[in-house]
Amino acid sequence: MAMMWAGRFSKEIDSRVNDFNSSIKFDARMYRSDIAGSVAHATMLGEQGIIEKSESEKIVAGLKEILADIDEGRLEIDPNAEDIHMFIESVLTERLGDTGKRLHTARSRNDQVAVDIRHYLKGECDEISALIRELTEAIIQKAEEHFYTVMPGYTHLQRAQPVTFAHHILAYAQMLTRDMERIADCKKRMDVMPLGSCALAGTTYPLNRKRTAELLGFADITHNSLDGVSDRDFCCELASAISILMMHLSRFSEEIIMWCSWEFKFIELDDAYSTGSSIMPQKKNPDITELIRGKTGRVYGDLMTLLSMMKNLPLAYNKDMQEDKEAIFDAVDTVKLCLTTFIPMFETMTVLKDNMRRAAAKGFINATDCADYLVKKGLPFRSAYKATGSLVARCIELDTTLEELPIAEYKKLCDLFDEDVYEAISLDTCVMQRNVDGGPAPEAAARQVELLKAKLKNM
Ligand code: ARG
Repeated sequence: MAMMWAGRFSKEIDSRVNDFNSSIKFDARMYRSDIAGSVAHATMLGEQGIIEKSESEKIVAGLKEILADIDEGRLEIDPNAEDIHMFIESVLTERLGDTGKRLHTARSRNDQVAVDIRHYLKGECDEISALIRELTEAIIQKAEEHFYTVMPGYTHLQRAQPVTFAHHILAYAQMLTRDMERIADCKKRMDVMPLGSCALAGTTYPLNRKRTAELLGFADITHNSLDGVSDRDFCCELASAISILMMHLSRFSEEIIMWCSWEFKFIELDDAYSTGSSIMPQKKNPDITELIRGKTGRVYGDLMTLLSMMKNLPLAYNKDMQEDKEAIFDAVDTVKLCLTTFIPMFETMTVLKDNMRRAAAKGFINATDCADYLVKKGLPFRSAYKATGSLVARCIELDTTLEELPIAEYKKLCDLFDEDVYEAISLDTCVMQRNVDGGPAPEAAARQVELLKAKLKNM
């Protein structure tokens, strides 16, 4: 195939170089953005009188036809083309002759690819945000069913203090709304239109860049042509926001994996979202969550690819930058796939309340409340802490719990103890009285839910 830039060359490109050089396999997915960019550019060229109005109209109509032909399967994207930009332009030229050749006036593939990726990724940001919203709403809905489901809260994976299942999963809703904010923020900086930067040094043609931006739905234009073609911060930023989101999904997945184990048995996954073993008939494995945990590493890899690819590049465009697409598209595809699977898996899982409660009733997770009981009776906290520590040791010696230890034993260690201690250290009291803002008490959790809902409404 003769290349668009063939004039300068006396030989055809070696087919191995063509394969190596070509990005069509991974940039073909941007064809809609590429066509939208060309439509806006051609329209503006016509309005400015840089090309004839009638030619601009023909180009726009031709581009729209190409779009419909690809969408409806009448035109196949040629896998031997150099990239999606060259492909669309060459089809247009085949169809329109010299008129098609006018499209690339005052444009370079350098600003073309820059506008395409931004335009394409803006749409991806919206899709990812919509999925995060869906998961956050699913978490809120489940939380509302479990304001009273007591479970152990952990530090160091040791039972620490009682919380509720609602409170625990709402922590993830908090993380996810931050993820949405991060992606929205990243989209804001992505929302600037680089066309007009041309190869690197702008152009002598009287372009109306603001008009192109308006036609393409960008909020603003880039303000330095060198930066306009060589900035890939928005890819790094999005990959980084997605990496943090994947980290959250991975932590959630890790907990679900533990909760599914026989040792915890806090939840049971629906059969449709679990897998079996080829040899062990009893197995029901949380493969989805394990894959999400695994894919998190892969997305971190995409972020490192982008950061490393950019770190030594002189201004402006360098071909290295073609590597941006596989990395950022992989990150985007992976996170969407993970969210799409995680959401129904989460929605259909069964919460085993009794097991959670049983786990919370052991392990002295009310010891802090026992100490607080003494503090309320006037003892300094450190002394109360020490007395309770001795009580726990006594319980272990007698193989019992604080709830079951006889009052006589309590009194032996501190005469401030009375019968009302049992009420003070009951699991329900421990949770219900933690009504501080941000705490696990049902009322506090309900307030948290209201705030989350209001936040989602404004996002
Ligand atoms: N396929 C290229 C990329 O993705 C398009 C830009 C090519 N520009 C150039 N001067 N060779 O980066």
